Amino acid sequence: MIGKLNHVAIAVPDLRAAAALYRDAFGAKVSAPLALPEHGVTTVFVELPNTKIELLEPLGDASPIAAFLQRNPSGGIHHVCYEVGDIEQACRRLRARGMRILGDGKPSTGAHGKPVVFAHPKDALGTLVELEQV
Ligand code: CO
Repeated sequence: MIGKLNHVAIAVPDLRAAAALYRDAFGAKVSAPLALPEHGVTTVFVELPNTKIELLEPLGDASPIAAFLQRNPSGGIHHVCYEVGDIEQACRRLRARGMRILGDGKPSTGAHGKPVVFAHPKDALGTLVELEQV
């Protein structure tokens, strides 16, 4: 069912420093910061030949990554995102196996303007898994 690894998201306390690390130490191509108030994050995309890394910094008071950064003050891998062809079918498949979809259980519009859902990390080996319909 899942296809390509779309991105790995890393929550960071300081987006400028994180972007500089990927640009200067790792020699990667990094985007300008993009504020996504509706998602409570500011993002920088690191373009790799085969996938992307998303650096996420909290934006606003109710950021969904704030609690994660309290537990991981120097940052850490927040989620992985896999591509799927049919997100409704993917949700049915996970639910049929007793897996929980976060939020209201319906796809929402993700950071790339495409439908996404998140599977509960406790149902997925301790890893928050995002599915994105492409
Ligand atoms: Co993501």
